[in-house]
Amino acid sequence: MASHTDVRPSRVLYGCMGLGGAWDTSPHTAEDIAAAEAAVEAALDAGITVFDHADIYRHGKAEAVFGEVLARTPGLRERIILQTKCGIRLAEGERPGLYDLRGPSIVRRVEESLTRLRTDVIDVLLLHRPDPLTGPEEIAKALASLHGQGLVRRFGVSNMSGAQIAHLRAHLDVPLVANQLEMSLERRDWVESGVLVNTPAAADSGFPHGTLEYCTANGIQVQAWGSLARGRYSDGGDSPAARLVTDLAARKQTTPETILLWWLQRHPARIAPVIGTSRPERILACRDAVHREPELTHEEWYDLWITARGAPLP
Ligand SMILES: NC(=O)c1ccc[n+]([C@@H]2O[C@H](COP(=O)([O-])OP(=O)(O)OC[C@H]3O[C@@H](n4cnc5c(N)ncnc54)[C@H](OP(=O)(O)O)[C@@H]3O)[C@@H](O)[C@H]2O)c1
Repeated sequence: MASHTDVRPSRVLYGCMGLGGAWDTSPHTAEDIAAAEAAVEAALDAGITVFDHADIYRHGKAEAVFGEVLARTPGLRERIILQTKCGIRLAEGERPGLYDLRGPSIVRRVEESLTRLRTDVIDVLLLHRPDPLTGPEEIAKALASLHGQGLVRRFGVSNMSGAQIAHLRAHLDVPLVANQLEMSLERRDWVESGVLVNTPAAADSGFPHGTLEYCTANGIQVQAWGSLARGRYSDGGDSPAARLVTDLAARKQTTPETILLWWLQRHPARIAPVIGTSRPERILACRDAVHREPELTHEEWYDLWITARGAPLP
């Protein structure tokens, strides 16, 4: 088995959800592979070493085009950390989408991902969402089997609260190393929930208070999906928050994208943003968030938060 354990994880992850063409079951095209190649090259140029997938992205086509890129680029697999997810089943015909962490489903999805990605091992497998119908004992068996067979090196979760992770961990023989959550200057409930305690607004914050603290205390990396807020503050828009982001970027001699990622990275939980743009120039605009320490003062960090929330803190 090839060894990928020496790769140093970058502070920013590249999210591959945008690769692979249309969200349908049509086959991927040569253009889709070329676009994936350009995005991967830009991510590597920016210093990114961790690539985030899921079995469902573009109905498997994100993994498939990535597998093509790996096959065409000798030595690339050994230079990167490959993360993927399983546990969501897309809608099919009349059946709505659902969650499925049953043991045989996890194992089958991983085998399919390995085939599409054209690799013999997944470095990190995340359980995409909690499946309320599958108990932790069954999940534990599947993860132990995948680990024992050498098909998956490490495991993590996504969209889970601290309490859900604690419940799962109590049954696992393998550690959990990551929890991926939606977090950005737009989706701020991860930070709001911590200061709204003891206020009526606390009930409106959907974020399970204590999740960041639980992850930090237990060595579980917090990864932020949606970290660029789909361009809301970095597209040259005219909202007060977008103007502040642009202004700070000019003052720090960096890009608006970097300011958005620094805002997440500056938090003591040492959040690892996942960026999802497929455009090489936007990927390269995130370079300083990979290489420079977040250069936001205490006051600048709060200024961004309060401007984006549009109201003073409680
Ligand atoms: N765990 C989960 O449940 C979960 C859920 C969703 C995503 N993810 C992961 O997280 C990654 C990032 O999530 P995301 O794609 O929602 O986050 P994002 O990086 O905030 O947004 C990227 C998306 O916004 C579009 N966009 C439009 N204008 C943009 C601009 N100026 N700058 C950047 N993007 C702009 C991009 O299109 P272009 O490609 O045209 O730039 C792309 O579709 C995904 O790739 C995936 O790996 C995980």
